[in-house]
Amino acid sequence: MTSPTTGTRPRVYLDWNATTPPLPAALDAMMHAARTAWANPASVHGDGRAARKYVEDARTELAALTGYEARDVVLTSGGTEANNLALRSAFAIGEGGVLVTSRVEHPSVVRVAEALAREGACTVRWLAVEAGGMVSLADLEAALAEGQVKLVAVQAVNQETGAIQPVADAIALAHVRGAKVHVDAVQAFGRVSTSYIFGADTLAIASHKLRGPKGVGALVTKPGAKLHAYTFGGAQERGLRPGTADPVACAGFAVALRHAHEGPARYQAIAKMRDRLEAALAGSSVRPAELRAQTRAPHVSSLLFPGWEGPELVAAMDLEGVSVSSGSACSAGTSEPSPVVSALVGERARSAVRVSLGEGTTEDDVSYAIEAFTRVLARATS
Ligand SMILES: Cc1ncc(COP(=O)(O)O)c(C=O)c1O
Repeated sequence: MTSPTTGTRPRVYLDWNATTPPLPAALDAMMHAARTAWANPASVHGDGRAARKYVEDARTELAALTGYEARDVVLTSGGTEANNLALRSAFAIGEGGVLVTSRVEHPSVVRVAEALAREGACTVRWLAVEAGGMVSLADLEAALAEGQVKLVAVQAVNQETGAIQPVADAIALAHVRGAKVHVDAVQAFGRVSTSYIFGADTLAIASHKLRGPKGVGALVTKPGAKLHAYTFGGAQERGLRPGTADPVACAGFAVALRHAHEGPARYQAIAKMRDRLEAALAGSSVRPAELRAQTRAPHVSSLLFPGWEGPELVAAMDLEGVSVSSGSACSAGTSEPSPVVSALVGERARSAVRVSLGEGTTEDDVSYAIEAFTRVLARATS
């Protein structure tokens, strides 16, 4: 899929893990909602009810996609807020306990864990990570045996390497010991089959990663899950996420959620293109064992380019009209390497570049990206 033009050639967008282009049908639904559903969705009158319908539609579609109940959906501003709510809820009542998680989680889990530890709300037990960036189930068993574990937070798909984490096994191990499990599924829905995360006590999802708009997402829970607000205000979302909901964003989110059911089938075909790109770059890049997950999503590749600083290569590719990334978008603007890749390969993370394809990526896009990489990398050595 191409994005707005630079010069005469349309740009090639290979940064689908940062965000995805919104579906045209989602944009149409949002335009319609913006014109007709501008009332406050919490208002009891007819205008309010018209706006509320979009909010409730998104909730219903979330239930349909995840297999959980619509009444157990808390709409949030996105994945970050859903992760915060899940982790903070588990340690809100001042009883302490242990949070088990790992350094390959998204910062919206890692930083919350660090904050909870600083605040004295819990102790954090960081899990060992094995080759390929997979969390160690043996270490999870050990952590659970140490006792006092209230929550295990393990992601479904890693945003940098595409590692599909052993979530089903983690859930089974944690539940035997009476611990709850939170799954950050932001990079999973719409891309990989998600049956392996069913059974999580809470899960986070974000609209903009599955072709909906930004600014909306959800925390979905098992029935009866105990959540605690960490922001306070009105009674929206059962008081767990106070503030006026956005019917326009929800309208787009609902369309994207319907589209996401067939996502895993669409993404399967992408693996061939990703592999072609990796093969073409094999002479100038390395993918060390630490970045080679045994099971990984079909569309993403983190590569090291020895002799390069990741941000420099990203800038050079940008001039060629190709969008790739080094580090996650939330830390863009700084030249810090991705904390996940750093956790896996240390200092070598400085030379990392992530290429993430998506359901709109074409063979032509990949061919152009290979040519552009080849040009840029050749210039550096000539
Ligand atoms: C795995 C993962 N979790 C959470 C987030 C945060 O989601 P949001 O941008 O909706 O806050 C991201 C975004 O990159 C992510 O990749």
